[in-house]
Parts: sequence; C-alpha cells; structure tokens
Amino acid sequence: MERALSATMRRGTGGNVSLTPIGEPRHKITVATLLEKKLHHEPITCLTAYDYASARLVDDAAIDIILVGDSLAMTMLGYENTLSVTVDEMLHHTRAVRRGVKHAFLIADMPYGSYHVGVHEAVRNATRFMKEGGAEAVKIEGGEKRADLIRRVIDAEIPVAGHIGLTPQSVNVMGGYKVQGKSLGDIEQLMRDATALDRAGVACIYLEGIPREVAAMITEEVRTPTIGIGAGPDCDGQVLVFHDILNLTFAQPAKFVRRYGDAAATITEAVQAFRADVMSHQYPADSESYHLPKETQAALETVLERKQAMRK
Ligand code: KIV
Repeated sequence: MERALSATMRRGTGGNVSLTPIGEPRHKITVATLLEKKLHHEPITCLTAYDYASARLVDDAAIDIILVGDSLAMTMLGYENTLSVTVDEMLHHTRAVRRGVKHAFLIADMPYGSYHVGVHEAVRNATRFMKEGGAEAVKIEGGEKRADLIRRVIDAEIPVAGHIGLTPQSVNVMGGYKVQGKSLGDIEQLMRDATALDRAGVACIYLEGIPREVAAMITEEVRTPTIGIGAGPDCDGQVLVFHDILNLTFAQPAKFVRRYGDAAATITEAVQAFRADVMSHQYPADSESYHLPKETQAALETVLERKQAMRK
C-alpha cells in the first residue's frame, strides 16, 4: 500500500516545500470519501490537470480530486475562452489524465454545447466521458435550470459535479467574468441553485466567483460538499487551476489565485540554457553520446585505412 505525502509549505514566500510521508495508507477517493470529508470537516483538495505528466504529479501529491476542466481550452489550447472546446478535445485530455491517476477522484468537464441541446445528447456525451475517457464523474455548469437534466445523467449511473456562481460557459450572458451573487435577489437565486443541485444528488458543487459570505451560507445549507474557487475559505474544499498556481497562464492572475511556483521561469531558464549549450558546442558532451563497440571501431578503422591506402 502506498503512503500518502503531505506537502508542508511556507506559504506566499515560494519557500521550502517538503514532501514527507505522513504514514497514512492512501485509499481511492470516491463520492463517499468526499461526503465523509464534509462530515468530518476535513478540507477537500482539488486541482485541474490536463495531461499524463501533470496528472501523475497532482495524484502523487495526494490531491483528492483531479478535474479535467474545460479551462484547458485556454491553458492548453490557447483559445480565448472555454466555449470552443469540443467533446473530442476534452476526451483526448481526459484519457491522458486517466492514465496518470491512481487515487484521486477524476471529474471531467462537459464542454459548452455538449449538454445544452437536449437530454439525450447530454446523457450520450456524459456516457462517453465515462466509457471512453475513464472519468468517474462529469461536471455540468448551472443550478436550478439544470437540475432535471442532471437527474437524468445521474439516472444513467453517472455521478455529476455541479457548478454555480461565475460559470465561464455563460460568459456572454454574464457580460464578462464577473463576481456573482452580490445582490439579495442574486443571493436568493444562488441558494435556490445550490439546493436544487443538492436535491438532485450531485457528488459535489463547485462555487466559483461569489462572495465568501454567500459561499459560507450555501456550504452550511447543503449536504453536498462544496468546492470553492474565488469563493472564500468557508467551502468544504478548494480548487485552483494547475497553470494558475504555477505561473503558466501568460496573464495577470485573478484575485483569488495564489502562486505556489514559477514554472514559466524554470522552463524559460532551462530552454535558454539548452540553446546556449548547443550554440557553444557544449551539448552534447562525449558522455552524452553513444559509442561503437570496440571491435566494430577497430574493424571500421581498418576499413578506412584500406580505403585511404587504395586512394594513394
Ligand atoms: O474548467 C475549470 O478549470 C473549472 C474550475 C476551475 C472549477 O471549471
């Protein structure tokens, strides 16, 4: 049985990170684990991952949930927003992540358009994420208005993660990425959204871009674990985007993002050092080259000598 790793970080300073075994055997995270964690007030951790390497690293660090977010439209594919990414593109990344995950609960985002046209298409697409992608749940944006559809997906034995508040697939309706739930009417709607998802039986509810006070009320009200992003510290868990915490987004981070590393600087330094070594003939060294076996080398020399002698 593998041992869990605990990450002890000196926060905010980019200081030492020590990964030390805490002696706990690692179990597979399931929907039941998430519920238990909420009951025991044990924080739930979630990060996005979009490929095999990042999935392995995140899973090895004992993160509870890995989300193949449609944020990969921007972070991995360079799109302007999440709207253009397709089911096939999402599946491609979900399969890669699946191969890197052993213990975390794996959720795949249903992209824009994959559940908006009709219930049958929604269930068919969700089924693809389970069968072809190896996901253990799908995430669907929207609250009260999606509750019936979400029930139908759950009826097909597919756990669903809800997502309310700032839902990036509604960017054009919201008129930009704006914090939601600031007026009394909006707070009431958010409470209705959360309770509708709770009653529908979702596995967890992502709360994005809402005031911490509202996230705290929702978290208190629902039985379902809440996972916050830009929703303050009172949610049952927290999620951040892998590329955000590592400075790989080429953009100003949002207020709620905390950077835990500077992969952009590390990668740039490594790439520039490689270029400099090639330009100055310092790479590859003899020790980094393959060599002929001694007998072949000797035979080759004899052949070359003979050829040279014949030319004279
Ligand atoms: O796509 C995504 O990455 C997300 C989260 C950050 C919740 O939906």
